[in-house]
Amino acid sequence: MAKYYINAQHKLSKINKEIYGHFSEHLGRCIYGGIYVGEDSEIPNVNGMRTDVVEALKEIRIPVLRWPGGCFADEYHWKDGIGPKKLRKKMVNTHWGGVTEDNSFGTHEYMELCSQLGCETYINGNLGSGTVQEMSEWVEYMTLDGVSPMTDLRAANGREKPWKVDFFGVGNENWGCGGNMTPEYYANEYRRYQTYVRQYKDSDKPASIDNPERIRRIACGPNVDDIEWTQGLLKTLFRHCEAKFHGNTDGVSLHYYVLPEGFDNKVSATQFDEKMYYNTLSKAFYMQNLILMHQAVMDQYDPEKKLGLIVDEWGAWYAVEPGTNPGFLYQQNTMRDAMIAAITLNIFNKHSDRVKMANIAQTVNVLQSVLLTEGPRMVKTPTWHVFDLYKEHQDAQLVESSLESETIGEGEYLIQSITESASLDAEGNLHITVANLSPSKAYSLETVVQGMPGGPVSARILSGKIDDKNTFEQPELVGSKEFQGITRSENGFSLTIPACSVAAITIKA
Ligand code: AHR
Repeated sequence: MAKYYINAQHKLSKINKEIYGHFSEHLGRCIYGGIYVGEDSEIPNVNGMRTDVVEALKEIRIPVLRWPGGCFADEYHWKDGIGPKKLRKKMVNTHWGGVTEDNSFGTHEYMELCSQLGCETYINGNLGSGTVQEMSEWVEYMTLDGVSPMTDLRAANGREKPWKVDFFGVGNENWGCGGNMTPEYYANEYRRYQTYVRQYKDSDKPASIDNPERIRRIACGPNVDDIEWTQGLLKTLFRHCEAKFHGNTDGVSLHYYVLPEGFDNKVSATQFDEKMYYNTLSKAFYMQNLILMHQAVMDQYDPEKKLGLIVDEWGAWYAVEPGTNPGFLYQQNTMRDAMIAAITLNIFNKHSDRVKMANIAQTVNVLQSVLLTEGPRMVKTPTWHVFDLYKEHQDAQLVESSLESETIGEGEYLIQSITESASLDAEGNLHITVANLSPSKAYSLETVVQGMPGGPVSARILSGKIDDKNTFEQPELVGSKEFQGITRSENGFSLTIPACSVAAITIKA
């Protein structure tokens, strides 16, 4: 039996909805085929965007979508992707499979997609191989409401009004594919480039990652545990600034992929034993160490936590599916991935005082996708179902909670058996997400809730074997369903959570 304690009266940080964000790159079949099929496609679409994919993403309330990369971002020249499609320049996508990129999906198409999804925009600019002028003009093209060469160009391409850019990344992985820079060199470049990411609309409120009236600028942060990058970056960014927080940076990114031990592009997404399962999950828990490590540096410069840690690439990275282009990073998705998502999202919730946005890599057909497509067919992966179960946490208030669970695992790969987080929404409903990571053992949970809402308790559950998955032949093998086995007690509730399952519990106000 596990004891679970929740204090609904002790509100902590707000869980920004952007923590449930997504990332889509011009990589493999993410954009082309996965999201965008073109206006003339026989696959049902609205202005070229697949209807099934748009609907499935709306169902999980996608809050924000990062685009166009990734490594692709620092090779992307936005002017190649505007104007009549037939005249758009073609290029070689050198990072991802060496395929021809015809630029038929560009700025206007991305904005159309976000408008259909009803989500915020997160554009990643090109610092690695682009110019300051190019970045500056892109921001002008998208956001200026006035007369200028760029707004004339925008109007000539059919769009009079500006769009809203919510977040803007000034380069991507500039320690690697974005230019192989040192932290100090990048930070100086960042200072210069961001100067020309103009805020054309004034805001009376101070700069902060939580001020939606501004374009929030994200600097390229560390890869995994590269603390020297974080230190070098922040030291240079904050140098010669009178105020501790200088308002030129709203967020610092962090990239971390779960790479199972012995990663050599041969670890299968679907064929694995329990030892590999524990190995993979233990690496998912490492996200917590990374957040603590990098936030300790951020706290020195920004104790008030105005600067967000933006985990804009996370997820599992396995071998590509047999027979597919190695440069396309197409992998299947199992209940193991559902567990990775459950662990990671609970960690983000618990650290939502510093983690202000996160973007799973990637939305469709690439790495840990929420959706897979094949021609006209689409499946929702186990990871999609976790996003569905967790969606009530979006913009809710994290509350204090703790759980005593046993340690499970094999050999050196030890993990806690249960992970959880709890939040209170604006109407006073309490939402709890709990995952039992054991492949074989159910646990009974005795829960005490201080300040428990007075309404009924209900739950949904996603369960299966660790390697269960949805395929185009069997698209609904894995899915969530209502869970009857939960009972309300005088000061809480109890349930027995089955092995390898994720539950979303709601206590109504
Ligand atoms: O998501 C795939 C790639 O992983 C991205 O392009 C890059 O930023 C990271 O290395």
